[in-house]
Amino acid sequence: MARLSVNIDHIATVRQARRGIEPDPVTGAMIAEISGADGITVHLREDRRHIQDRDMFLLKKMVKTKLNLEMAATQEMLKIALEVKPYMVTIVPEKREELTTEGGLDVRTHRDYLKKYTEAIRDSGINVNLFINPEPEQVKAAHMVNASGIEIHTGRYAELTNEKDIEAELIRINNAVLLASKLKLSVHAGHGLDYSNIKRLTEVNGIEEFAIGFSIIARSIFVGIERSVKEMKELIA
Ligand code: PXP
Repeated sequence: MARLSVNIDHIATVRQARRGIEPDPVTGAMIAEISGADGITVHLREDRRHIQDRDMFLLKKMVKTKLNLEMAATQEMLKIALEVKPYMVTIVPEKREELTTEGGLDVRTHRDYLKKYTEAIRDSGINVNLFINPEPEQVKAAHMVNASGIEIHTGRYAELTNEKDIEAELIRINNAVLLASKLKLSVHAGHGLDYSNIKRLTEVNGIEEFAIGFSIIARSIFVGIERSVKEMKELIA
């Protein structure tokens, strides 16, 4: 059964709307864990629009499952990752003007830089996943730079509405999973997943973990975090 890592960024988005102390994403993480989350994910963005440095350090102390830090491959973030020492770092591309992470990393083009970067993090015992589109060249490049695994960008899958396109994208995802497993990379998937589009992805063999944020936190406004996490866990099971 695949694991569920709950991304709590958008609890912090609400807090930052008033720059106050409520709602606290760390409290949200604790409730998500009690409700069955297998991990907690946060994206510390360069512009600190939601998660703050203070959250990272507190989460490291409090999270009992697996803490996954999503971040851009900058020197500032490298320093923070080595200080916080989360269970895992997921390297994502980041642009200031985007609403959320819009595409996968181009590992192939930035191979030399990412190899050094990935190894610096792995040398201190932290796992490193690379967030990539489901493309064979990117999977191979992730293997070449010594990443521990990949997170497949499911944003395109999530946005498609035409059945033929959805099927084609699922085949692309399936092929990327097969290749990554052959290369002994761990395989996660995430972005844009919700209570309806998750089902067909759970039918793809080999995805070990889903990272889901927005849909869970959005639903929790109406039903609470406990129910929104439990309902997603049931769908993944
Ligand atoms: N995985 C990665 C790498 C992401 O950047 C995000 C968004 O922060 C997610 C998963 C979660 O996406 P969503 O909030 O759409 O579920």
